[in-house]
Amino acid sequence: MTKVFIGSDHGGYNLKEKIKEVFTPLGYEFEDMGTNSLESCDYPVYAEKVAKKVIETNEKGILVCGTGIGMSIAANKFKGIRASHCTDTFSARMTREHNDSNILCLGERITGQDLAIDIVKIWLETPFSNGDRHINRINLIKEIENK
Ligand code: RB5
Repeated sequence: MTKVFIGSDHGGYNLKEKIKEVFTPLGYEFEDMGTNSLESCDYPVYAEKVAKKVIETNEKGILVCGTGIGMSIAANKFKGIRASHCTDTFSARMTREHNDSNILCLGERITGQDLAIDIVKIWLETPFSNGDRHINRINLIKEIENK
């Protein structure tokens, strides 16, 4: 069973709690890496917790902050992470098919709850295309990581 590691700061806490409701019906296991309240906290702390789990396990992650931007900047600092901040379902599909995105970032203050849930479902359910040109481009990203 695919496992999803999910995390947020205070700005993404409410949306994180909502997203957690979709995992079990869709057949995903999940682990909540915090935060656990609306108390102000620092998004890089949770980006790091989720990114490290995704790297260790080769599973997927979801990170939510106010905009989705801070989380994506922080998560993409980790070697092997391809974090995608999505505000629409087309991008969610494309970033799985073309970029083999392994972390989805969402902004609670940007994307409404129902749209965010659709984005999550599409992102989780869309496989990587395995197309040669996409594999090649991801390998080029890996080369950049090793420079
Ligand atoms: C917190 O106020 C906010 O800065 C954070 O949730 C996020 O939007 C950062 O990118």
